[in-house]
Amino acid sequence: MIGSVPFFSSLSAKGRKKLLAQGKQISYKAGSTIVAEGTTGVGFFLILEGKAEVRKKGKVLATLSKGQFFGEMSLIDDMPRSADVIALQPTTCWAITSWSFASLIKIQPEIALDMLKEIVKRLRVAQSTPAS
Ligand code: CMP
Repeated sequence: MIGSVPFFSSLSAKGRKKLLAQGKQISYKAGSTIVAEGTTGVGFFLILEGKAEVRKKGKVLATLSKGQFFGEMSLIDDMPRSADVIALQPTTCWAITSWSFASLIKIQPEIALDMLKEIVKRLRVAQSTPAS
């Protein structure tokens, strides 16, 4: 499944295989909390199938689906999870630890750039959303 995710399109087939071996596939039932706001987390998640909602104090910030990632914030700054991420339907993620991800970025820096582009996109959406 990971081969069809645009986020990893900069990787060669060999690179993708290497990457796959470092993470694991996890399935979640609809309604389950994948990441809980305020908790400590070491995982980066990429949605392979399904849909998840990002909620902060009950407010919906975003809906993420196949090919999108989450969990990068705690991974980058070692701070607690900034929001809840809840599976809206049966959802399969590919998850990798922060230390595996860090070593991966050193080998394949294009991934960091792709990730930055997505983070900027999310920031622009947040800027255009009226504060409550
Ligand atoms: P993290 O803080 O580790 O855990 C919760 C995740 O929700 C966070 O990383 C981001 O991946 C995601 N997230 C937080 N805020 C937003 C947002 N405004 N739009 C999309 N995703 C978000």
